[in-house]
Amino acid sequence: MEFNKIGLLGAGTMGQGIAWALAAAGKEVIIYDIKEEFCQKAVAVIGKSLAKAEEKGKAPAGTKDAVVSRLKPTGNFDDLAAADFIIECVFERMDIKKDVYTRLDKLLKPEIIIATNTSSLSITEIAAITDRPDKIIGMHFFNPANVMKLIEVIPAAQTSEETVEAVMELSKAIGKKPVKVKEGPGFVVNRILLPGMNEAAFILYEGLASVEDIDNAMKMGAGWPMGPLTLCDLVGVDIALAVCNTLFTETGDPKYRPAPPLKQLVRAGWLGIKTGKGFYDYNK
Ligand code: CAA
Repeated sequence: MEFNKIGLLGAGTMGQGIAWALAAAGKEVIIYDIKEEFCQKAVAVIGKSLAKAEEKGKAPAGTKDAVVSRLKPTGNFDDLAAADFIIECVFERMDIKKDVYTRLDKLLKPEIIIATNTSSLSITEIAAITDRPDKIIGMHFFNPANVMKLIEVIPAAQTSEETVEAVMELSKAIGKKPVKVKEGPGFVVNRILLPGMNEAAFILYEGLASVEDIDNAMKMGAGWPMGPLTLCDLVGVDIALAVCNTLFTETGDPKYRPAPPLKQLVRAGWLGIKTGKGFYDYNK
């Protein structure tokens, strides 16, 4: 099965990176968000980064125009009907997802697969609210999604083997490395990575080291490509908190309880790079 026109819901941090990865691999991408300007902003960021890459000789001339020409921003939900595959990365709240999936179910032909990029919600619960539970699946990308190679492919309890195979194939077709994972809180990467980021926030809370020193310690002492608190700002403090909460509530294990700084930053609206402030201040 080949998919060439991908409908993408959500032009936030992940939506932007996923759109970039898909378009760079030759796929046409209909990017939908509640306001078309959110999608246009995402396309502009991708275009600017690729223009810079071309200038520096890191990308062949013409890359930017080719990639951007495949991105179709829209604020009209009905435009998604033209897609042959859907990736959903809307806000991580079940009430919002339920509304979106109900509308998608009505709009799309019954054979269309809908993959969710959720990192913290139950894919089985999402599948259960649709009329196509066998065609709902997790397709979990990593930030920055245009760079990171991994996709976790997570079947819900109801997902068919054909759907799993189709998503494994699509992942490979866009140059990613898919790994099949059974549904469980945090899947593989977040189950291991998020407790590390959470522990870094506890170390900060206990006053044992500064933000910079914690990050430098893990970069220079453990070979992390970026420090855990920088990483938290990159993925979004709200996303990190949501994953910690899922690990904690789903397992009941207190070792996963979120560190106070994560909760406080989210309450302040300081969600990391996307809001200009998180553990670091990006406006300075
Ligand atoms: N957005 C888009 N592209 C980016 C980027 C960003 N935020 N940051 C870096 N890049 C691109 C650069 O443009 C560059 O591209 P080219 O090779 O085409 O020039 C490439 O990434 C490498 O960048 P740099 O050389 O500047 O920097 P680097 O070598 O330090 O790599 C990095 C940057 C790939 C982000 C690296 O620091 C890294 O791997 N960090 C860890 C990322 C990680 O762990 N992600 C998973 C988070 S968990 C998650 O996402 C799941 C979830 O559900 C929460």
